[in-house]
Amino acid sequence: MTGKALVTGCAGFIGSHLCDELLRRKWEVVGMDCFIDNYSKKLKVRNISQLVSSSRFRFIDEDITKAPLSQYIKDIDVIFHLASLPGVRESWGESFNDYVVNNILATQRLLEAVKDRDIQKFVYASSSSVYGNTGMLPMKEIHLPRPFSPYGVTKLAAENLCHLYYKNYAVPVVSLRYFTVYGPRQRPDMSVSRFINAIHASAPITVYGDGTQKRDFTYVHDVVRANILAVQLPTAGEVFNVGTGNPVGLLEVIRILEKIMGKRALLRFTESQKGDVKDTFADISKARELLGFQPSIGLEEGLLYQVEAMNR
Ligand SMILES: NC(=O)c1ccc[n+]([C@@H]2O[C@H](COP(=O)([O-])OP(=O)(O)OC[C@H]3O[C@@H](n4cnc5c(N)ncnc54)[C@H](O)[C@@H]3O)[C@@H](O)[C@H]2O)c1
Repeated sequence: MTGKALVTGCAGFIGSHLCDELLRRKWEVVGMDCFIDNYSKKLKVRNISQLVSSSRFRFIDEDITKAPLSQYIKDIDVIFHLASLPGVRESWGESFNDYVVNNILATQRLLEAVKDRDIQKFVYASSSSVYGNTGMLPMKEIHLPRPFSPYGVTKLAAENLCHLYYKNYAVPVVSLRYFTVYGPRQRPDMSVSRFINAIHASAPITVYGDGTQKRDFTYVHDVVRANILAVQLPTAGEVFNVGTGNPVGLLEVIRILEKIMGKRALLRFTESQKGDVKDTFADISKARELLGFQPSIGLEEGLLYQVEAMNR
């Protein structure tokens, strides 16, 4: 299947990989991003440096909350909405306003623009952070979402907006709850990037809490594949976990990186951060059954690819 896709957040970590894959599959891609300053614009420009040389890619440097959206979605078949202000720890205090604007208002504005248009799918990048600090593991789509961070609240609010535009206006929405995504181009504020940079520089790694907290690390190409499978789903209005079902402790990730990089890590333990959950663990049986999703890259292999990419 091919067509014309709009990818919001195309200059970000996951969005840029999704654009790569869509172009490889012969889609026409319109990418929108306004380079919000959650991390360096230089890295984001580098993420799209290959994309912009393709004749099937058009880049739009616009903010979703202000752009003339109807003009850009006129002939779009599928929307992948990945633009957001991510990150749990920064979402407290004054900056919550930016989370509301970029995560909730931006999503509402995009849904308003598409609600009377005939599109095939609207795939929303949701997050495991909607579950919160649940004692119920593995996390299942039928569990009551109870976010533990302001960021998680904004991702759940946007996911709910997607669902109500599906119910009221039949916008064909599919929400994918990504679990800790890693791989080349990972955001510099995320754990694996921080660990690799610190080991490389022989600098101490700040470990929040005791390091036994587990995350369901998911390789970025698997997340991209889940997005493409979501387009092929014959129905809409569904929510899916996109993870591996194999949670791993942070200290174990550091141990694997030490092995790959041939260097010991220096650890500095500090108290766990407000909003950080203890463990995440995806039940992916629904994605497996309805999407045909199966993660293909194991943690050691994926970490090796990320280390190699960050050495370049
Ligand atoms: N990385 C993860 O582990 C993870 C986990 C769960 C969910 N997600 C979700 O996946 C999506 C992509 O995450 P990422 O890690 O690639 O983040 P990222 O910060 O690398 O990419 C997001 C991009 O969106 C752009 N953006 C933000 N607000 C915008 C606006 N108003 N208009 C236009 N562009 C805007 C940013 O400039 C950025 O380039 C996000 O929605 C995030 O919440 C990510």
